[in-house]
Amino acid sequence: MKKKALIPVFVFASGRGSNFEALCQAVHAGKLNADIRALVSNTDGCGATEIARMFKVPVIAVSHKGCGREQHEKKILEALPQAERPWIVLAGYMRLLTKEFIERFWDSELGVSRIVNIHPSLLPAFPGTSGYRQALEYGVKVTGATVHLVTTGLDDGPVVLQRSFEVRDDDTLEALLKRGLAVEHELYSEALYKLFNHSWRLSRGSEGAGRPRVVFGGEA
Ligand code: GRF
Repeated sequence: MKKKALIPVFVFASGRGSNFEALCQAVHAGKLNADIRALVSNTDGCGATEIARMFKVPVIAVSHKGCGREQHEKKILEALPQAERPWIVLAGYMRLLTKEFIERFWDSELGVSRIVNIHPSLLPAFPGTSGYRQALEYGVKVTGATVHLVTTGLDDGPVVLQRSFEVRDDDTLEALLKRGLAVEHELYSEALYKLFNHSWRLSRGSEGAGRPRVVFGGEA
């Protein structure tokens, strides 16, 4: 990778943290020009916080217990160190964000928030939790993962990248999850690399109809 500016990033995670770990590895391998300033977690002691400690990423642990959404986010915002145009990268963060929080990271130049999420399905199929379980239960033959920019809707917002893979006839949830996560781990750093280093815009397609998606131009 050519020497590129490091983009300040705060990763938010609540659980296992395998996507966070993959991002840390991509950064270490020089494949992603991100400066992961901190891991924000509402569940101290979860897999993600352990991984942060392994990679020497500062942990900002803010429990959501006993406080409302606004109050929880206020505490997080107070704890976040100053950064210039940071990206918020959600990696298994099990909390819905308020409109106010999303607006806080609104980028008027981009026309969208600098908040990005990864979801375990080909959105708009199977929003909500357990995308792979839903795919298996529905009986689809193909599923996938989606990286999208975050809006106030649940698993909504302009699609950045998607990748599909087959559901095998004999798949168990465990097998599907394993293949799905492997896809996610590549897709997330690829999507972030493109967001950080390519020119891009939101486009509703040639007819101007439908919902906006991220359309990439060349690498800057
Ligand atoms: C992933 O499946 C991701 O798509 C979803 O939550 C899960 C997090 O897994 N948003 P992990 O904590 O990164 O292993």
